[in-house]
Amino acid sequence: MASRDYSPNVTIIGGGMITQVQILPCVYQLQRLGLVGDIQISALNGAPLKALAENETLKRAFPGQSFTPFPDFRKVDPEEKFPELFNEVLQSMEPRNVVIAAVPDQLHYPVIKAALAAGQHVITVKPLVLKYAQAVEIEKIGYDNGLFVGVEYHKRFDDRNLMARRACREGLLGEFRLGQARLHEPWYYRHSNFQNWMTCENSDSFSYIACHYIDLTAFVTGLRPKAISVSGIVEKYPNGNEGFLYTDGRVIWENGAILNVQNSLSFPDAAAGGNNQGMMLMFRGEDMGALVSHEDQYRGVKHSCIRKGADPGDTIFSEPNPDYFQMVPTAGGGLRPVGYGYRSVEALVQAVRKMETQAAGASGDESLETRRRLIKALDEEGLLAAPANSAYNELVMEAGRKSILSEGREVVIEYGEKAGVSLREYP
Ligand SMILES: NC(=O)c1ccc[n+]([C@@H]2O[C@H](COP(=O)([O-])OP(=O)(O)OC[C@H]3O[C@@H](n4cnc5c(N)ncnc54)[C@H](O)[C@@H]3O)[C@@H](O)[C@H]2O)c1
Repeated sequence: MASRDYSPNVTIIGGGMITQVQILPCVYQLQRLGLVGDIQISALNGAPLKALAENETLKRAFPGQSFTPFPDFRKVDPEEKFPELFNEVLQSMEPRNVVIAAVPDQLHYPVIKAALAAGQHVITVKPLVLKYAQAVEIEKIGYDNGLFVGVEYHKRFDDRNLMARRACREGLLGEFRLGQARLHEPWYYRHSNFQNWMTCENSDSFSYIACHYIDLTAFVTGLRPKAISVSGIVEKYPNGNEGFLYTDGRVIWENGAILNVQNSLSFPDAAAGGNNQGMMLMFRGEDMGALVSHEDQYRGVKHSCIRKGADPGDTIFSEPNPDYFQMVPTAGGGLRPVGYGYRSVEALVQAVRKMETQAAGASGDESLETRRRLIKALDEEGLLAAPANSAYNELVMEAGRKSILSEGREVVIEYGEKAGVSLREYP
């Protein structure tokens, strides 16, 4: 339970790609700094947990650090599935520690609800959930119980985006009018576990990654999306499942501005760099244009090596992005994560620590009031994404799905009492 030197234990639910490349290294680093306590990871089966425990980079980066796996891969068939085990793990946690949800998109809702029911603070990888009503429900449960719920939109911690937000909010850019954004993930993703869940009936490239630049445009400009249309191209994954592997989306904003967002799993494996992403937003003042232009994969670093690394997508010649997430040598041995991927996870964990530290020692009611006050303050500040200040993302998600399944018809977003999405009707 909360104390003055509150360092929460952390349970990560999901042991896949994002846990390996971002979440676990960040949590290990926070543990190294004494900011979190014990780490547990629960996955559907033992195989990914074994891979995490034996990952050479993680072992070299964090010597002597480890996590408790559920299921214990040393004792079960690595392929045997335990879909309900995460619930038992949650029940065994002391209340008011931290759960990080890193499961496929459609499982965020049940996992987050179960974590809140177990009295845990929650951090989730994006998207929070797939339905607006679920976001509203989660916001209420979190607030009522004084439990933090934060969404890991790491682009908010990229300094170039914070610079753009500041310039925009200080009136230096004028009004947003027209923009283009793109995020193309590598082709080899098609061979990964994506083929089992990012299929036409569950998700699509727009739902999976357009949310980053749509959230970012809202984060920078303060505008909310009011209509969406998305067209997609269906292709087969190697296992024969079908997915919308290329998408083109158009977002109309409340002031009439338009953002085009293109997404795909098609960036060549042979190309240097892990993806291709960026945006150009055109603004206007009284009688002049203004713009923000980002090459977000950043191509200013070039490495040409004598052999390629062991990870999927590694190339002999590479143009690594130093901004999102890298592991660099650190004093005392090992490697430490740097970049906005790390800063984002740290900021979310620090929000929980601040909440519990301020509430420490208070009686039940007083503690609840303190935690609720901090939840409201964070919502209003708007730097960390939370259900109350970023649920437009869930409306975008619903609208995007409706549109792509209706061959690109425009879907209108309503806010307020009657919040929801509907196909635009033409007279
Ligand atoms: N840029 C980003 O912010 C970013 C990038 C990648 C992934 N993500 C998000 O992270 C999430 C996971 O993506 P990923 O690429 O790691 O997927 P993945 O398929 O590699 O891993 C999913 C993990 O969830 C686990 N899981 C599934 N059902 C479970 C259950 N019932 N109980 C416990 N664990 C269960 C699986 O065992 C697996 O370890 C998705 O929501 C995705 O959108 C975000």
